Amino acid sequence: MSEGRATYVELFGGNETSPVENPYPVFRRLREESPVLPVLAMGHPAWLVTRFEDVRAVLRDDELFSNRCNARGISIVMGRTIVEMDGAEHLKHRNIVTPHLAPRALKGDFPKVAEGIAHELIDAFAARGRADLVAEFAFTFPLQVFTRLIDVPTEDHETVHNWGIDLVHVASDPERGLRAAAALADYLRPMVEKRKTERGDDLVSQLVHSEIDGERMSDEEVISFLRLLVLAGAETTYHLIGTTLFALLNHPEQLERVRADRTRIRDALDEGLRWESPVQLVMREATRDTQLAGVDIPAGEEAIVCVGSANRDEREFPDPDRFDIDRENKEHIAFGFGKHYCAGSRLAYLEGEIALNTLFDRLPGLRLQPDEKCGVVGVAFRGPDRLPVVFDTP
Ligand code: HEM
Repeated sequence: MSEGRATYVELFGGNETSPVENPYPVFRRLREESPVLPVLAMGHPAWLVTRFEDVRAVLRDDELFSNRCNARGISIVMGRTIVEMDGAEHLKHRNIVTPHLAPRALKGDFPKVAEGIAHELIDAFAARGRADLVAEFAFTFPLQVFTRLIDVPTEDHETVHNWGIDLVHVASDPERGLRAAAALADYLRPMVEKRKTERGDDLVSQLVHSEIDGERMSDEEVISFLRLLVLAGAETTYHLIGTTLFALLNHPEQLERVRADRTRIRDALDEGLRWESPVQLVMREATRDTQLAGVDIPAGEEAIVCVGSANRDEREFPDPDRFDIDRENKEHIAFGFGKHYCAGSRLAYLEGEIALNTLFDRLPGLRLQPDEKCGVVGVAFRGPDRLPVVFDTP
């Protein structure tokens, strides 16, 4: 069954040391010629789904396309979380955790705390007149916000962040991912224990004490969920901030309009999410034999749903490779679709808005550093690897 199938990465000709720079011509061809393509995913036969309509159909039907395959993937480092659950179990657990991720439920005056962190990061390079906004800002900001939400002491921020990065590498280096997962669990366990008797106003306390139908999450469930959030902070919002800045800096006319009218930041973020979706792939497993776009998918095989390709589907978004904050259709699916729609989307938007607003306030004349190359890269997650900029200093 698996003979002749390419692996996902082979399709794009990339590997760990030469990251995929532009998967979009391949996606475009697949959408035209083979919108449901047989491939190999970690040695298993799977189906690559690239058209918007088909991607949405898979994500909409959670009975036919289950999340249980994530138990073999990302859950290896996270433990059992809502990402691998279906149906009533998923709903119950999701209802426990999602209210606590709403910005208004977060610790203290969340926007002020996040703004303070953004200023601290900018203080470190503002006088220099130049910076790498990925390494010195976007990479650190969301995780710093998150570590403060759960009251991690300042001296441990870097360690926790490094574990978050290691978790992401589980596919290419399972040992590294598993080591970080164990270290993070050991770090979080005493925090969870302490919050049982010393309830604070932080996210860990809320998770430890929240109840649905008289049931609480077990310690391991809280730890797994916190690990999922570390991963979400370490690899997604950072790319959203980096990509949106990258796109605006490469379109100075749009940058000027956003700077002048900050209500347009949300449009820029949405277009950044569509144009270079930070999470490119979502996995599902067919629970029975089915067909998608006329192609037979046997029960038990995986659908690799290409959110990044769907968001560039010309059937949905005219001239899809163009970054355009004025685009009418903003219904991208960068946060997924259906029952597993991203539980942290509002937090991600808010962090993105605070990050861009603060950078625009503090860095007049912000522009790309001439003669320095940078670009958006990656397969499963995408974002710019560096963003060398210059700006005016007083
Ligand atoms: C730009 C930033 C982000 C992007 C692009 C993103 C993308 C996604 C996507 C595509 C899914 C759906 C996965 C699926 O259908 O299987 C998802 C789920 C999820 N995201 Fe995000 N995410 C982002 C930020 C965050 C943040 C900041 C948090 C938490 C603090 C978060 C927490 C979650 C959780 C808990 C789920 C699982 C929801 C469920 O299975 O019901 N995400 N995210």
